[in-house]
Amino acid sequence: MSLLDYIDQDRLPKHIAIIMDGNGRWATNKGFERGEGHKEGVRAISRVVEAASKASVQYLTLYAFSTENWNRPAEEVNGLMDLMVYAISEETEKLKKNGVKITCIGDMARLPEYARTALTECIRQTEKGTRITLNIALSYSSKWELTEATKRITEDVVNGVLSKDDISEETISMYLTTRGIPDPDLLIRTGGEQRISNFLLWQCAYAEFFFTEVYWPDFGEKDLYEAIIDFQGRERRFGKISEQIEFNNVESKPDKEQ
Ligand code: IPE
Ligand code: IPE
Ligand code: MG
Repeated sequence: MSLLDYIDQDRLPKHIAIIMDGNGRWATNKGFERGEGHKEGVRAISRVVEAASKASVQYLTLYAFSTENWNRPAEEVNGLMDLMVYAISEETEKLKKNGVKITCIGDMARLPEYARTALTECIRQTEKGTRITLNIALSYSSKWELTEATKRITEDVVNGVLSKDDISEETISMYLTTRGIPDPDLLIRTGGEQRISNFLLWQCAYAEFFFTEVYWPDFGEKDLYEAIIDFQGRERRFGKISEQIEFNNVESKPDKEQ
């Protein structure tokens, strides 16, 4: 029996977000250059996308490169961009075949032209995928996203497109890069750190957190399924008390009407 058989299909997290951390330490511990860890990290992405789609998870958001990561040594940043373009072009056909739809959140304007072009092409080629949405957070940070959203909301209020009194939580969600994607139910961070590093601050308001010591390049199907099973053992109360919670309540939205 595989761990997959222990996953309750009626209580699946619809959206899993992962902070893929630990590539550098994985490589250093083995006496390799950090870049080797990033290469191995790409292999882990393939495994985890396959595993998530086998478990019928609908949305998977992977934190691949943060706004703050631009401050790393140029050599590492350039290596990561090259690796990303290479991985995208290598994987596009397979993603398409497996029904994976690629979407991207982040400040694409900061990406080098060749990386942006490769990504746009992959998004276009996979747009009909219906099995799972793989959302890549690239050049992304939550504070950047919230700042941009605030600017656009202000602009729309000034231009009379939006009335100040109509701004609700839903309006704000509509101005975020994750518009149309349900909030993550489960946030996983690999690599042993227990912090959120500027990732989906608004969207993770009620996510369940799962931290693991496993470095991202070592993360695989078994680790993902363990995290899902752990998630399924939790009670999501959304501010209520235990007695008010139905057994099946794993949905991402608190019921504000009650
Ligand atoms: C995560 O691994 C990948 C990126 C941030 C691009 P790290 O590169 O942060 O690996 P550690 O944390 O240094 O081990
Ligand atoms: C977070 O990892 C960003 C990504 C995984 C892409 P970092 O390794 O950059 O996080 P901090 O800076 O140590 O918190
Ligand atoms: Mg790190």
